[in-house]
Amino acid sequence: MYDIHSHILPAMDDGARNLAESIRIAEETVKKGIKGIVATPHFMEEGYRFALPELEEKIRQFQEVLKKREIDLEIYPGAEVFIYPGLIRDLEEGLVPTINKSSYLLLEFPMYGFPPYTGDLLYNLQVLGYKVIIAHPERYREVVEDPDFLYRFARGSIYAQVNSSSLLGVLGERVKRTAEILFLHNMVQLIGSDLHSTGRRGQTLREGVERLEKNWIEKGQNCCSGIIGGSLRIRSWNAWNHFPTGVKEDSWISLESVFSHNLLTFVGNYYRINCKVQSLNRPWRFLWGR
Ligand SMILES: [Fe+2]
Repeated sequence: MYDIHSHILPAMDDGARNLAESIRIAEETVKKGIKGIVATPHFMEEGYRFALPELEEKIRQFQEVLKKREIDLEIYPGAEVFIYPGLIRDLEEGLVPTINKSSYLLLEFPMYGFPPYTGDLLYNLQVLGYKVIIAHPERYREVVEDPDFLYRFARGSIYAQVNSSSLLGVLGERVKRTAEILFLHNMVQLIGSDLHSTGRRGQTLREGVERLEKNWIEKGQNCCSGIIGGSLRIRSWNAWNHFPTGVKEDSWISLESVFSHNLLTFVGNYYRINCKVQSLNRPWRFLWGR
């Protein structure tokens, strides 16, 4: 299992405060059977900002510490990029880290309002070949109030990553219900922990995936049968033969495979062709009592 969203690196953002905390997070992560984790510190136009070499050096140092302590966890470079108007220019200049230096970009939005240029920006990113992963859509006010808001983006090379903690109810009942609705309507492809520390905002990826499998997949959410834990879990896909050799059914495939083979795109397309992203008469209206 791989975690594609974490604030594990020490003193980069509002995540781990120091090396000791980062080590505790790494130990907890390994204990839960997670092999690799993408370090995705917050990245903004101003404020949290760093250069890729700086990030790589931080990861190298941290990886060395882990190795010395025999903590077997692979760290990959990435960033949780907060949307801003000049993002494309900076991306093209190589100033913005993507997930494991692939074309996948983990993109965060303001909690209380998507900027008016969002549609244009997402369109232009796709034209340029970037694959956008929307970070924790279930937490944004517009999506909580109307999960159909995400539907307009749930096509093309736009993906969504739900937080495992949301599925477990850590962020409240409405966020949890929103995450479930998004899954029910096939608008989510990935789960990440978005861990910031140990404890309440700690490593919950495994529990989140297990909750999802128990509550949804085994109850016959057919298109979820191929979903998607920390990175991707392959299970009973009709398109089995199309996967690269060496990928076994019902196994976790490596993060490198996912991103270097553009597997997410493939899975995403297949997933969508066969399962159809749904926008069904807004049934969640009833859930909110409207
Ligand atoms: Fe995050």
